[in-house]
Amino acid sequence: MAGTFQAVKISDNVHWVGVVDWELRDFHGYLTSRGSTYNAYLITGDKITLVDAVKKEFLGEMMSRISSVVDPSRIDYIVSNHAEMDHSGCLPQVIEQVKPEKVFASSLGVKALQNHFHWDQELHIVKTGEELDLGKDRLRFVETRMLHWPDSMFSHLAGEGILFSNDAFGMHLATDERFADQLDETILREEATKYFANIVVPFAPVVNKLLASLPGLDLDLKMIAPDHGPVWRENPEQIVEAYATWSAQKRSRKALVVYDTMWGSTAEMARAVGEGISSGGCPVRLMPLNGSHRSDVATELLDAGALLIGSPTINGQMYPTVADLLSYVKGLKPKNLLGAVFGSYGWSGEAVRQVEEIFDSMGVELAVESQRTVFVPDQDVLARCRQLGADVAQKLTDRV
Ligand code: FEO
Repeated sequence: MAGTFQAVKISDNVHWVGVVDWELRDFHGYLTSRGSTYNAYLITGDKITLVDAVKKEFLGEMMSRISSVVDPSRIDYIVSNHAEMDHSGCLPQVIEQVKPEKVFASSLGVKALQNHFHWDQELHIVKTGEELDLGKDRLRFVETRMLHWPDSMFSHLAGEGILFSNDAFGMHLATDERFADQLDETILREEATKYFANIVVPFAPVVNKLLASLPGLDLDLKMIAPDHGPVWRENPEQIVEAYATWSAQKRSRKALVVYDTMWGSTAEMARAVGEGISSGGCPVRLMPLNGSHRSDVATELLDAGALLIGSPTINGQMYPTVADLLSYVKGLKPKNLLGAVFGSYGWSGEAVRQVEEIFDSMGVELAVESQRTVFVPDQDVLARCRQLGADVAQKLTDRV
């Protein structure tokens, strides 16, 4: 009788044995509206090898999928490309059940796994260029430090031309299809962009270096099999090319106006700012933080040329949603960005200065003088807000 969960064959000797997490909506602060997958791959051959694993709570489902191909006790090797818990959470249990001959990870992967599980499991360190003989085929390792953790690593199955790229080239997208060419292109583009903008962009310089080094690595890329989302089976170059574009962080004339409001005054200022940007001929997106998730702002920011922040002052501080957003965006290390600040206040008005200071610490260039108003903006203040927007549009036009 067939088990509950079946593996999906992705090539002659490789099966997908991961899980689809339809319920996931929060991935450490990232709104995963369409869920995700944790992909694990089983290479069959003389040496049966499991590449990566899944979250701890999905152990049974992954083992069921493995069992649909081979008895799990026949697994010889486990390769851990990345120690983050969505790919390693069930590893101690898998090792206990499977008793593999060897477990492989990068040197920093071995350390990270040790720091997660505090075990005495023997692990084997592999380095860039090293190969693991699987009999019929061989796996070659490429360390990809800081893409996106220090331990991250790719594994490449030479005979089949499959790159197991771990988090890179992935996306958070739960589907019943396993290949990108089976899915809607618009959804693919949206989710791949969001993933890059929220997970990968802080490491854009690492991506640049890696992409530049790819030809020298001489890897046959018939397929790219990431650890989240679909496998790139047809034209895998498309996602590599998208990474080259995104990691260049080329900015457009688009401006984002991100704000929150207590009694509608900062929102009114935001609308006037937006009108000014439009009047200057630049595309603008207004993103009120009472309805825009930080990870969606980050996605829009990927190619935006300017970030304008509107914040009321509450108890001497910027608005909590604005603080949340700026903390998140600062960690994404945006480059070549123009900034502007505005907001309403009652009696002290610290928020604008606080946002300016954060922009300064981020290297965001303040494009124009900030605008503040006491309580409700009058026509004069709104005219100045509109002018602020028009001035930002002019700076964007001069720059791009
Ligand atoms: Fe999908 Fe860095 O874990």
